[in-house]
Amino acid sequence: MNSYFLQVQKIVQETEDTVSIHFWHPISGQISYEAGQFLTVLIPGPDGKKVRRSYSFSSSPVTDSGLAITVKRVPGGLVSNYLVDHVKAGDFLEVLPPMGRFTYTETEGNLVFIGAGSGITPLMSLIKTLLRTTNKKILLIYGNRNEHSIIFKEQLRELESTYRGRFTVVYILSRPGDYWVGHKGRIHEANVIWFMKDHGVDFKNDSFYMCGPEKMMDDLQKVYTLFEIPEDRIHYERFNAPTIEEDEILPEQTAQTVTVKYDGETHVFEVAPHQTILEAALELDIDLPYSCQAGMCTACLGKCLEGQVKMDEDDGLTDKEKDEGYVLTCVSRPQGPGVVIEID
Ligand SMILES: Cc1cc2nc3c(=O)[nH]c(=O)nc-3n(C[C@H](O)[C@H](O)[C@H](O)COP(=O)(O)OP(=O)(O)OC[C@H]3O[C@@H](n4cnc5c(N)ncnc54)[C@H](O)[C@@H]3O)c2cc1C
Ligand code: FES
Repeated sequence: MNSYFLQVQKIVQETEDTVSIHFWHPISGQISYEAGQFLTVLIPGPDGKKVRRSYSFSSSPVTDSGLAITVKRVPGGLVSNYLVDHVKAGDFLEVLPPMGRFTYTETEGNLVFIGAGSGITPLMSLIKTLLRTTNKKILLIYGNRNEHSIIFKEQLRELESTYRGRFTVVYILSRPGDYWVGHKGRIHEANVIWFMKDHGVDFKNDSFYMCGPEKMMDDLQKVYTLFEIPEDRIHYERFNAPTIEEDEILPEQTAQTVTVKYDGETHVFEVAPHQTILEAALELDIDLPYSCQAGMCTACLGKCLEGQVKMDEDDGLTDKEKDEGYVLTCVSRPQGPGVVIEID
């Protein structure tokens, strides 16, 4: 997958620990992307190897002339700290082409967005775009820690005022200051149902887009199950792939030898029980294609020709792809010996 360099136009401090990095489009041509997609940034790691992390566009391809990603510092995190602390206007960042399937699908009803923390980023891009390009009503339920950690507070206020009657934000803060008169707590099943009913959400027709911590996403899934919302009206983005900790591994789970055929070469290597096939390959410096490492972009797509693999997360693939034996190596673990995967 070919990478290219984008020049930073400006940095906007959104909150104490979050910046938006705005890029110029390259002189050679505009970067084309869809609202809800992400860029993958490559930076040199401590051992000289490049490390990749994905960041959703916070800009809209329709309402913004430039490109922007928004990065929240993860304590101790390698790339987020580098981007938040060191990148400045004029710098060039190496990126992979825009990817991702968390994009808008035309449906009859209105739209409900639910996000928390940095999960607002792809939602912001979608909301700006859809307010401009559709006539739909949009409800955003947005969770944060306190008043100071609300990313895009001003922009959201302006959008609510411009699109009065069409766009509403419900804020919920887990640790608000003494003067906060809004909702308190975290987003969970009970308050989400209450917010949605209060704002006239039509569970039979409306579509739902969400991005936030695992716990929030799991709770929301229970709401969708309760209201029998079909999968084609539920859209989500995960920022982290599920992980398996060393102490969760059962004694009978052992390392398996996996064969991966890619780019005219055949690689045979061991995958430990706590590793995915991609993780094991990268640790051995085997050059396989990938981008998000979270089962969200299909850059690591391969076909399982022999043996059995289990994907921690398979929503990034269509049912047809799964039936045809396609797997995402970044979230796949061998379930026995003899796994052979071919990557186009
Ligand atoms: C499709 C996609 C889109 C994304 N979009 C955005 C975005 O718009 N804005 C944004 O800020 N991030 C986004 N992320 C997350 C981002 O890619 C990185 O995972 C994040 O910045 C942490 O990277 P790091 O190198 O700083 O931390 P690492 O060095 O990878 O991790 C350090 C430690 O923090 C933990 N950790 C990693 N990520 C998180 C997290 N998100 N929350 C809590 N703990 C974590 C790790 O388990 C590890 O223990 C996105 C991820 C994906 C897959
Ligand atoms: S690298 Fe994105 S789905 Fe595997």
